[in-house]
Amino acid sequence: MVFRVSPRFMKKYITHNSEETKQVAATLAKKFQGGEILGLVGDLGSGKTNFVQGLARYLGVANKVNSPTFVLMKPYPTHHKKCKLLVHIDCYRLNNCQELLNLGLEEYLKDKRCLTVIEWADKIEKILPEKTIWIRFRLGKNIEEREIKINN
Ligand SMILES: Nc1ncnc2c1ncn2[C@@H]1O[C@H](COP(=O)(O)OP(=O)(O)OP(=O)(O)O)[C@@H](O)[C@H]1O
Ligand SMILES: [Mg+2]
Repeated sequence: MVFRVSPRFMKKYITHNSEETKQVAATLAKKFQGGEILGLVGDLGSGKTNFVQGLARYLGVANKVNSPTFVLMKPYPTHHKKCKLLVHIDCYRLNNCQELLNLGLEEYLKDKRCLTVIEWADKIEKILPEKTIWIRFRLGKNIEEREIKINN
């Protein structure tokens, strides 16, 4: 089950626009040493890709990060001292875990120079390690409001 940890250890943020969501991502990334795995879950349009863009900006990724229709997994070189590669995975259209394993997912997950971030990660929960940091996104009451819960 996603969110195994007691709610006492959960951080909750309410953001009011996409810039604030990017800042939540940057705040979290400040502690990263490399090798972290982030599992993003939540509704369509709730801000998962936006959050990844916040990570990319913080890490100094030069390329624009988006969710191209036919790309499951894309590594981006960074300018960060420890996380040398941001690996962005989007499981929305994934049919089975094997597709990602065939693309070398396990090597990325083990690599201490990588930060791996996975949208719709609940679809591949069974192949993600225990140490995965789960982040849940929800639409808020107002049009630009989002709730972000981080189990970490
Ligand atoms: N507080 C907010 N945080 C994040 N995004 C917001 C916020 N308010 C408005 N937005 C807008 O909501 C949209 C979020 O889209 P995004 O692609 O990040 O969602 P997603 O969760 O990745 O969706 P999908 O499930 O389709 O991949 C963007 O257009 C963004 O500008
Ligand atoms: Mg997305």
